[in-house]
Amino acid sequence: MAELILGQTLAFAADPFVEGPGAARHEWRGAVLVEDGRIAAVGPADALRAAHPRARVTDYGEALISAGFIDAHAHYPQTAIIASWGKRLIDWLNSYTFPEEMQFSNISYAEDVAKRYFDLTLSNGSTTTVSYCTIHPESVEAYFAEARRRGLRALAGKTCMDRDTAPEGLRDTARSAYDDSKALLEKWHGSDRLSYVITPRFSPTSTPEQLSALGALWAEHPDCLMQTHLSEQTDEIAWVKSLYPQARDYLDTYEAHGLLGPGGLYGHAIHLEPRERDRLREVDAALIHCPTSNTFIGSGLFDMGGLTAEGQRVGLATDTGGGSSFSMLRTMAAAYEVGQLRHRALHPAELWWLATQGSARALRLDDKIGNLAPGMEADLVILDLASTPAIAQRAARANDIWEAIFPTIMMGDDRAVQAVWVNGQPLR
Ligand code: GUN
Ligand code: ZN
Repeated sequence: MAELILGQTLAFAADPFVEGPGAARHEWRGAVLVEDGRIAAVGPADALRAAHPRARVTDYGEALISAGFIDAHAHYPQTAIIASWGKRLIDWLNSYTFPEEMQFSNISYAEDVAKRYFDLTLSNGSTTTVSYCTIHPESVEAYFAEARRRGLRALAGKTCMDRDTAPEGLRDTARSAYDDSKALLEKWHGSDRLSYVITPRFSPTSTPEQLSALGALWAEHPDCLMQTHLSEQTDEIAWVKSLYPQARDYLDTYEAHGLLGPGGLYGHAIHLEPRERDRLREVDAALIHCPTSNTFIGSGLFDMGGLTAEGQRVGLATDTGGGSSFSMLRTMAAAYEVGQLRHRALHPAELWWLATQGSARALRLDDKIGNLAPGMEADLVILDLASTPAIAQRAARANDIWEAIFPTIMMGDDRAVQAVWVNGQPLR
């Protein structure tokens, strides 16, 4: 049965970092026609109603219909340790993260957290997440099984760590990382809407042998994405230098082991050298901006203006639990504030694009998700643009769509999420 969903619609015909805010397409009284889990048409409500009189109508009034948010970098196993106080990256990993990740050898614990994680991401309007798991294959099984049960497009991989910089009990080996990743990839990659992502945590917790083994696995499966961390904190960069004295820079530790390529997702990427920027752009890799994490852990200010101007592929992400919110609205607000600190005020069209199509492009899934357009999978978020008294009184003064949306970007959270559709079905 065809479904006609009415409300304000927001879509993108182009990249606003290139074309400006005119790249967006907005209808005050718009509609999205959904058939068989996909978007069949987007246009003015009256025209689509007349053309599809038998479609079942869901009218969201003045609420905003958008492609669901895409969180391009998260750690679902860190759900329970979000907002842990007082540490910078390396101490934060050792004090909070690694002890929690040890618990994921227990499949029932992993299943409980995976359920809670998807409850949280969906209630915040994120319909696709890209997660690190833990070294335990069970943690990957739990994530994908829960995502499949909910019909989600979701991505993840087993986090690989074999160096003695990671604690006893949270280490694999070069061989087992390759074998376990390969077995998980063969089981889950391309099954339903799930994709496997090859996942070395970061250079400091892998031996060169493990990085090479995962580089070889990627070469055997070039249609998979590969995710890791890059140049998040200056202490981390100094640590990488001491562990890999022959490397030209941090990126070179990946490049030398077959872990630099077009499907590479490099989280944080804050303190980049000119050579690293050049190579990332040349290979058309993706940089994932994690602004709430970068302020919470004290990492630094991502150069959104410079990196987008030079043509880098950029996605947006929460990085929970280093990030301080499951909400891509809070994440857009943090991206705006970080932009301000670097003298580049991101337009609401740019922020919205990053949270939807920008992340989809980073994942090379922009032909499937991240926009309202015919043929796209029908993963939608419907937002109340007056969800709190503070937001409502500011939005009431709006003179255009961007002034109507920006208060929700800056002050909104899960209270703004009125409905979510996954694969053409409303969540109940
Ligand atoms: N670098 C290596 N592992 C992690 C992690 O779990 N979170 C963050 N923010 N940075 C990392
Ligand atoms: Zn991360």
